[in-house]
Amino acid sequence: MKKYQKVYREMYEQWHRENQAYREQVAADENRLAYHLMPETGWLNDPNGLCQVNGVYHIYYQYTPFEPTGELKLWGHCTTRDFVHYQQCEPAVYPDQDFDAHGVYSGSAFVENGLIHYFYTGNVKYFDRDDYDYILTGRGSNTIHMTSRDGFYFSEKELLLTNWDYPADMSGHVRDPKVIRRADGYYMVLGARDIAGKGLVLVYRSEDLTSWQYHGRITTREAFGYMWECPDLFVLDGRLFLICCPQGVPQRGVDFANVHQCTAVMLDYDFAPGEYILEDMAQVRMVDRGFDFYAPQTFEDESGRRILIGWMGIPDPDYTNPTVEAGWQHALTLPRELHIADGRLVQTPLKELQALRRNRRVLEAESLNQAGERGLVYELEAEFDHCRSMTMTLRNGVALEWKAGLLTLDLGPCGSGRTSRSVELDRLDHLQIFSDTSSLEVFVNRGSEVFTTRVYGREGGIRLEGCGARVTLYDLEGFCWC
Ligand code: FRU
Repeated sequence: MKKYQKVYREMYEQWHRENQAYREQVAADENRLAYHLMPETGWLNDPNGLCQVNGVYHIYYQYTPFEPTGELKLWGHCTTRDFVHYQQCEPAVYPDQDFDAHGVYSGSAFVENGLIHYFYTGNVKYFDRDDYDYILTGRGSNTIHMTSRDGFYFSEKELLLTNWDYPADMSGHVRDPKVIRRADGYYMVLGARDIAGKGLVLVYRSEDLTSWQYHGRITTREAFGYMWECPDLFVLDGRLFLICCPQGVPQRGVDFANVHQCTAVMLDYDFAPGEYILEDMAQVRMVDRGFDFYAPQTFEDESGRRILIGWMGIPDPDYTNPTVEAGWQHALTLPRELHIADGRLVQTPLKELQALRRNRRVLEAESLNQAGERGLVYELEAEFDHCRSMTMTLRNGVALEWKAGLLTLDLGPCGSGRTSRSVELDRLDHLQIFSDTSSLEVFVNRGSEVFTTRVYGREGGIRLEGCGARVTLYDLEGFCWC
């Protein structure tokens, strides 16, 4: 056993034995979510290694059980067959080798002939260098491969690529591998920052999933942010899409208002070797308007659906998540199915989530207001007919306002310091809203725009003023952990 494996597995097991009280404290927090995946204790960020094998969905995630600020990253793990009943599993991957000593960073799964191939980044910090946390030489960014038949037992980790295998103009920031298969071979995308401070995607090619050669890059003429994290290249309804997370993109009007962005673009990239330049930046769209959406990952399930799960969180220096005090932080978004409509990516909550619905009621705006709905854990669907302006209150202090072509989600006093996010729209036809104890996911016009955010406020109150609508409301049952 390598020295790090011994240290971290023992650390985890000892922590688990000794920290019953910590787990109870977190479980008692009033902001715990009813139907979202959260860390049992501590910190969670990106979804990792998403896949379905033999009917079982595996959801791994960046995880630090020990404390809520996310110092040392493991892969947490849970499974489900239906997105309603879940099993909490032990952490799946520890930083147990010299090449992943300071964090088992994000990665993905690629399933072929019943074998799951995992590719992830082993993070190493060179503490003896002045710039160890940053840009040029201070980090080892190792691309690692391992396999599993069942998602629980893994092969030895195999180091595929390390800093000197990346192009010479890369900084120490290269990470988050994702693999796509084409008729002519396998391609891996990696998020990167070059030494000039420009974000881009590196593309590697392989014929056997083990030996990888540099193939080219996907980039822009002018820098679009200084680092692109978590790239995901996939075919959807016959078209090639790139989702990735550029950091350092300046806000433009109501767009790119989050701390870091998550963008999607349809590409005409033909995988020719060399540089592919994304010319038409107007086609780069936000995947979600925020505040809390980052580092999503997609995968194709056994029925052929392209499913996306994101991190419902973001490192936001202007805000301290109130759950930190209770010993935990962040969650994953609901799983969403992806499609193209009118030439753009649309997201719809998975149909399995309908099994959580209870107590359906259909109301017009007036009867909704009279009903005095006070729930916090609900799903609401509203269909509008020529609505020019309206205000929909989602809980006391939180409202969606539609006026003069602008839809704004205003968190009011429930934002813990965060204020509002907006989108410009031609029309407002439809809203589907998932409210959980301390989160909101608002799907606009059948998922062509989405707002995902944490929100804090214990007082319910659903109202609609300003225009008519047909509103369907459901209470939602929590996930079953069994
Ligand atoms: C995105 C990210 C990834 C990295 C991981 C580390 O949120 O920064 O680029 O692999 O988180 O936890």
